[in-house]
Amino acid sequence: MTTPRIVVAHSAEDAGEQVADIVEAALETARHGRRDPVLGLATGSTPLAAYRALALRRLDLSRAWAFALDEYVGLEAHHPESYGEVLRREAVEPLALDPARVSVPGGSSNLSASCDDVALDAACAAFETALEAVGGVDVQLLGIGSNGHIAFNEPGSSFDSLTRVTQLTEQTRLDNSRFFGSLDEVPTHAVTQGLGTVFRARRIVLMAFGEHKARAVAAALGGAPTQDVPASVVQLHPDTVVLLDEAAASLLPSRSLSPSEAWA
Ligand code: PGA
Repeated sequence: MTTPRIVVAHSAEDAGEQVADIVEAALETARHGRRDPVLGLATGSTPLAAYRALALRRLDLSRAWAFALDEYVGLEAHHPESYGEVLRREAVEPLALDPARVSVPGGSSNLSASCDDVALDAACAAFETALEAVGGVDVQLLGIGSNGHIAFNEPGSSFDSLTRVTQLTEQTRLDNSRFFGSLDEVPTHAVTQGLGTVFRARRIVLMAFGEHKARAVAAALGGAPTQDVPASVVQLHPDTVVLLDEAAASLLPSRSLSPSEAWA
């Protein structure tokens, strides 16, 4: 088993700079390999500092492909909280990504769809094919849910799972209700990359900040990998960096932490 490198950053901003370094390194590797870089983008509050740090570096991302982790099912087109829209605001525009090279699971068919729509299954398969066609993700950014989910892979998701429609847990809907007017407005279903999809990324960067993430982080990294804690799959990945702040790391056994200096 490969232990992920766990780094406790001074702050989310500090971690954001480290993520930007990792992305820059991946761009460089892709350039040397004469291929277009492929970024795996996360939504939610966690990656925002990384996107801000990246935007300030004014990297040329015009040839980068970008793939989102997940998208709600059933929101109307251009709903401000659809992940397609969130990514447009927080990443695609600030980083000057080419919108034609950005893919969201389910494509546009998940908006206004119902979760048993067969077009959604076809869109999930097409998303997997598109990812493969560009050679897979170079760097996948991940947050973690308070219940240990990554993307919308809720507890119990198979480590082999692929892009699919999934039902959100009440905990996840409650956590995400802060972005909506009320809990009732939070969709019940989503399309998500599977854990098997995420796992194929060459490098994974899992981020967590704040005390409210400490239990999920400890469950994901402090014990053996288990499908009950989807994020624990990163323990099996050969190249994962976990960036935490002190609060998110506070329940981890100290022996699993590597000194920040080791990373620098
Ligand atoms: P957050 O969500 O970044 O908004 O905390 C993370 C997640 O649910 O995966």
